[in-house]
Order: sequence, then structure tokens, then C-alpha cells
Amino acid sequence: MTSEPCGIDFGTSNSTVGWDRPGTSALLPLEDGKPTLPSVIFFHAEGQPASYGRAVLADYLHGHEGRLMRSLKSLLGTSMIDDHTELNGQALPFRTLLQHFIAELKRRAEQAAGRPFSQAVLGRPVFFVDDDLRADQRAEKTLRDIAHAVGFKDIAFQFEPIAAAFHYESQVSREELVLVADIGGGTSDFSLIRLSPTRALKADRRDDILATGGVHIGGTDFDKYLSLAGVMPLLGMGSALTSGREMPSAPYFNLATWHTIHAAYTRKAWAEMLDLRRHAENKGQLDRLLSLVRQRSGHWLALQVEAAKIDLSGAHATNLDLGRVEPGLSLHLSRQTFAEAIGHLVRRVEATLKALMQDAGVDAKSIDTVFFTGGSSGVPLLRQSLSGLLPEAKCVEGDLFGSIGAGLALDARRKFR
Ligand SMILES: Nc1ncnc2c1ncn2[C@@H]1O[C@H](COP(=O)(O)OP(=O)(O)OP(=O)(O)O)[C@@H](O)[C@H]1O
Ligand SMILES: [Mg+2]
Repeated sequence: MTSEPCGIDFGTSNSTVGWDRPGTSALLPLEDGKPTLPSVIFFHAEGQPASYGRAVLADYLHGHEGRLMRSLKSLLGTSMIDDHTELNGQALPFRTLLQHFIAELKRRAEQAAGRPFSQAVLGRPVFFVDDDLRADQRAEKTLRDIAHAVGFKDIAFQFEPIAAAFHYESQVSREELVLVADIGGGTSDFSLIRLSPTRALKADRRDDILATGGVHIGGTDFDKYLSLAGVMPLLGMGSALTSGREMPSAPYFNLATWHTIHAAYTRKAWAEMLDLRRHAENKGQLDRLLSLVRQRSGHWLALQVEAAKIDLSGAHATNLDLGRVEPGLSLHLSRQTFAEAIGHLVRRVEATLKALMQDAGVDAKSIDTVFFTGGSSGVPLLRQSLSGLLPEAKCVEGDLFGSIGAGLALDARRKFR
């Protein structure tokens, strides 16, 4: 069987693999017939093989012991990538976890396609790391090494928002100046690019790309700040100690951040929380915190918060059931609360877009289309604020979870032709 080129969108939250063939959708089914595999890996304490994707969440929520890892892509370019997590006294290096995940993506894609893939274009955010070129290069190199290690022989990279543009280009019938806004789980990425059916045929597109830019802000950050603003105060964050001092915020930040939830489960952290309860003005709130930690329900809570955030894209208010923490406890969350919690992040994403247009010397009026992709482009506040910067552009919504993988598949076909 001949080997074919594929495109790999390894996302912070979801991953896809595309294989460009005429007459059919590029995206390969990766789990239960669906084209996305959530970027989640679970190592079982009992030593069974790791599980991936949606199946992890099922295993995990059924109370299996083990180590759940999400947002692994965010570790690229940070010192944590050389670190490890521990399970049953064994070290699990983060780099190895990442490699297991990429190997699984390749395996599932090859199974779906019925052929091997040895050439791949991997998507990458415009910046893996903000304001640190060397760390950014390290991140790309780590991903390249991992791709090699799992068996890809020819590897190229493409900016994710350029890949999304190529996917959109297959639908345009005349020349358009397009701003692609890819708002994902980890990063918000932009590209400003001229698209047309004839330009699509050119091998070298450098002249068509007017600018690319991005910032390390995405849906994972929205979850964190929604949790800090809405949920954590119910567990005592911001409350007073009998000494008059404010409750330390570290346990709350740990629980609101996916990578550090485990830090709340150490013996030392438990002793500190017991001590905080002793000195708390409101012991009931600290009892909720202790109950959450005792049940090891930090990841469960993070998932509840994410689900509430997604609800708020369609509804003006939602209820978050916190019955696990305290019987009968629930939290009413409004779109307004969410907007206030993430306002500072949305302003930074806006500033990134403004700077990009300024650097490119492009006036907002000359942009014909804004193409939205990425799950977090569903957040109404973000969408309004970005389209408000381009009031005359036509808004087009791509496949929020598939445009990049499909565009990378096109790019792979062209690059390895
Ligand atoms: N309807 C929705 N409204 C708001 N956010 C949503 C919605 N659906 C999904 N999300 C969020 O979108 C994010 C995932 O989007 P996506 O799959 O595009 O990211 P990714 O490609 O994995 O990340 P990145 O490209 O940054 O590495 C998650 O944070 C998820 O909570
Ligand atoms: Mg993405």
C-alpha cells in the first residue's frame, strides 16, 4: 500500500487528521466515527493500556484510578515538557505522554484510511510561546522530534490560521482579502491573506500572506477565569481569615488550572487546607473545598465549568450543579458574569488583532471577510468584539473543529506532491 501525505491538527483540546482525496471530506474518523479525538490521555494506575479521547472522560468519571492529562500542547516550549508526573511511584515524563498521544493519532488515522502515512504537515500556532522566539523554536523542535519518533519520515509545519485559510479558499469564487480568526483551546491565531481560485494554484503563497499573529489565550483560559470568578468564591476564595487577612489564593488557582489540579491532592496541600479551615471566618465554604479535594473531584469540576461556559454561548444563563461538593448546592451563572470574568483576556486578543492590522498597514475597511474557526470562536463576547473591529467585513463561520485539519491535508498534498 503506497504511503500518502496527511495533515495533523494536534490541538490543545481536540485533534484531527486530514487526508486530501477528491470527492470526499478530508477528515478521517478517529473515535466513534467522529473526526475529532479530544486531546486527552489517561494512564491507569492498575497498568492497563492508556486510554484516549472521549473514552477517557468516561473511564475517569467512572472513578478509575490513574493520571488524566489534558492541554498537553500547552507544555510545548515550557520547562514543564522535561518534567514528569508520577503514578504508582513511576515517573511518567510529559514528553512521553505527548508522544503516546501523537502515536495514537497516527495509528487511528492509518486504520481509518487503510494505509500508512509517512509524510505529514503538522499545524502549529503562530506562537507556541508568547514573546520568546527561542522557546517557540524549542516547542516546534520537540513536536518535530516526537513526529519522527512515532514514524513520520517527512515532516513540515504550517501555521494553523493559514491552514484554515486554505480550507476556506476551496469555497471562494473570486479574490477576497480574508482575516482568519482561529480561537482554540490554547491560542488565538490570526492570518491576513489574499485568497482566490487562481492564487490557490500557486505553489508559493508567501506574497499572498500579509500577516500572521497570535497570543496564548484560548478556551482553557476562559474556563480558568470563569472558575475563579464564579465557583471558587463559593469554596472560600477571597474570604477572610479570623486574623483579618485574606484567604490565600494558591489552592484555588491550582484547582482552576488543568495542569495543577493534582497539586491540590498532596498530603502537604491537604494539611494546609485543614489549617486554613481552622482559621477561616466562614468554615462552611472551606468544608466545600475540603469535600471537593477529598473526593478528588477537581477535574470533574473543571469539566463542569467548561460545560457551563459552552452553555453560555447559546443561552443567557445556566446552572452549574455542585451537588458533589455539598448536597443541593448549585450556581447560577449568567453570560454577564462570564463576560466580566474574561473581559481582560478578550481585550488582549483584540489588541493582538489590532497590532496585526497595524503592522501589515492594512485598513479594516479593506478586509472583505472574517473567517471564524476554533471552538472558542463560539463565545459571543469574543465574536462581537472581533467582528466589531471589522464592521464592514462579511462574517463566515468555518467548521469550528475541522477547518484546520482539512486545510493541513490540502497543504500536505501540495507540499509533498
Ligand atoms: N460552543 C462553544 N462556545 C464556546 N466555547 C466552545 C464551544 N465549543 C467548544 N468550545 C471551546 O473550544 C475549545 C476547543 O476548541 P478547538 O478544538 O478549536 O481548540 P484546539 O484546536 O484544540 O486548540 P488550539 O488550536 O488552541 O491548540 C475548548 O476550550 C472548548 O471549551
Ligand atoms: Mg486549533
